[in-house]
Amino acid sequence: MAVKKRQKTLSHGRPPVSKPKERMTSERSRTIIRTHHRLQKEHAAALKKGDVSSAEEIARAIEKNGGIKMYQAASKQGQAKDRGGDSSKLLVDWLQQSKVLDPKARDRRSAGNAELRCLEVGALSAKNEISKYASVINMTRIDLNSQGPGIEKQDFMERPLPTCDDERFDIISLSLVLNYVPDAVGRGEMLKRITKFLRKGVAWTETADSVLPVLFFVLPLPCVDNSRYLDEDLFLGIMGDLGFTMKFSKNSSKLCYYLFTLTNEPKATTAEKRKIRDGPGMNNFCIVVE
Ligand SMILES: C[S@@+](CC[C@H](N)C(=O)[O-])C[C@H]1O[C@@H](n2cnc3c(N)ncnc32)[C@H](O)[C@@H]1O
Repeated sequence: MAVKKRQKTLSHGRPPVSKPKERMTSERSRTIIRTHHRLQKEHAAALKKGDVSSAEEIARAIEKNGGIKMYQAASKQGQAKDRGGDSSKLLVDWLQQSKVLDPKARDRRSAGNAELRCLEVGALSAKNEISKYASVINMTRIDLNSQGPGIEKQDFMERPLPTCDDERFDIISLSLVLNYVPDAVGRGEMLKRITKFLRKGVAWTETADSVLPVLFFVLPLPCVDNSRYLDEDLFLGIMGDLGFTMKFSKNSSKLCYYLFTLTNEPKATTAEKRKIRDGPGMNNFCIVVE
């Protein structure tokens, strides 16, 4: 008996549809991120020692690991909905709770009319949640490596200091950027620099209880909960000395999030590298303020 030929499905005759690009596994993106951070630290240490040939070799290893582009692609995976999502959602949530943004309308503020200025340092996308408030928040996005329109290629540490309030910001986002800085002194310098970009004058006079100007700050949780040189008390002490008061905080299983208001002028104090605890598997993340 002749075998009946199976009917071909309709889709069989259609031209191939372009498949979405393969996503990295979370293990692969973690490895890329960790290797990039480790090599960046080794590179900075070699440069500090004046060991040019090691620095060149490490720079080649960074490129072999995919360089900053692969690092950013791996970081973007972490912004996927199923991997924690876009951290600026929490910034929006906290700004709504603080009555800076209206939870019911993206085109108006809860109180006050002045357009707010936000600087996002280390911006991977111009379409994150905070960017949806374009009619009330004027966004300036910068990154060491711009990934597209709306993001300026700029090292925050080289951004010219503001000379007037029009060049300062009401909101600064520093999400997963401080841990990119390869050395402890550099991290302290970055935090000190942030205070110079916040627009105290305008926001402080708007309403007595205004939360502005704010710093939205995110770090990998192990930087504060598993470091020999930093814990939350020490971190909040450093931020307090720089003039910041914590308004909100939240921990997820991997990250810690903070919203700080700049309430005071920075104190002329320092924070040294000091071992505060020890144990197997702890890391050496540290912030030094000179
Ligand atoms: C892990 S990604 C974080 C991206 C995003 N903010 C987030 O929370 O997912 C860190 C980004 O910070 C950028 N970055 C690090 N140091 C910087 C600096 N000094 N100035 C501007 N961008 C910086 C890196 O290029 C990288 O794109």
